[in-house]
Amino acid sequence: MTKANVSLGGKDILDIASLSVDEIELILKTAAEMKKIMKRDIKKVPSLRGKAIVTLFYENSTRTRTSFELAGKYLGADVVNITTSSSSVAKGECLRDTILTLQSMNFDAIVMRHPMEGAAAYAAKISPAVVINAGDGAHAHPSQALLDLLTIREDGKKDFKGLKMAILGDILYSRVARSNIAAWTKLGADVHVAGPVTLMPHDIASLGVTVHDRIEDAIEGADVVDVLRIQLERQKKGLFPTTREYARIWGLNESRLKLAKPDVTLLHPGPMNRGLEISWDVGYCDNARIRDEVQNGVAIRMALEFLTLTGGKHIENID
Ligand code: CP
Repeated sequence: MTKANVSLGGKDILDIASLSVDEIELILKTAAEMKKIMKRDIKKVPSLRGKAIVTLFYENSTRTRTSFELAGKYLGADVVNITTSSSSVAKGECLRDTILTLQSMNFDAIVMRHPMEGAAAYAAKISPAVVINAGDGAHAHPSQALLDLLTIREDGKKDFKGLKMAILGDILYSRVARSNIAAWTKLGADVHVAGPVTLMPHDIASLGVTVHDRIEDAIEGADVVDVLRIQLERQKKGLFPTTREYARIWGLNESRLKLAKPDVTLLHPGPMNRGLEISWDVGYCDNARIRDEVQNGVAIRMALEFLTLTGGKHIENID
């Protein structure tokens, strides 16, 4: 039960570790209400009228950037998008000056993706605007973890206590893995990980997970399986012999998925490298909730923008 006095008003959303269970529950409850707005013919409410949001992306994105923009627009905010290739960042402007420049324009929220861990926290330190981390290096992607929680709940798994949840693949470079481990352990799940030793953080066990050498052991009896994208853009070369070898030993295919519970919830943050970490058929199978994750991404980002910018404790405030 969410406590009545929980409020996210003015709070920066930097990672899952800095959200309490009550705050997470408030976000999920609010996102469920936001989905009702998304299903209307006219998907627009004035809750954030007069608020200005900027998305500032130093890395490519389809899902996250678009859904933060759409979320703000559905709630009536003015939303401006900046990507590095078309901004003064390409002329060499430093992060501090870019944030101060946006501040001079009086944005209420900065949604930021950056390749360096801690970049969003730095922006939050120097800007009075609400900062929402849309991914900082391999550190955190809190809105992805929240949309995954909503997706798992909608798939009938309301209580995470005792659920076996497996995360597979490139853990080392994955901010999604770190955020999901933080969220799932916080809610009492039994979290298992498997991946090549070259793509496993040396301190992984300190995160409260069980580490496996074989993908099959992590999948066996799992209620939830989350397959990670191989982060080819972040990796040094030579961390695994060939992509064919990776798919053979670490790829999720139909026969491996059969080791999980029949009602397993299959997640992938996208974009998928089909035929590498996930086979073509498994990505489209009945247990795959990958497109639900995308839809829930809009609802979660509506909830985050609404709750941080209005302080709305109660969903009645939305229209
Ligand atoms: N899951 C995710 O962050 O996707 P994008 O890179 O397309 O935003």
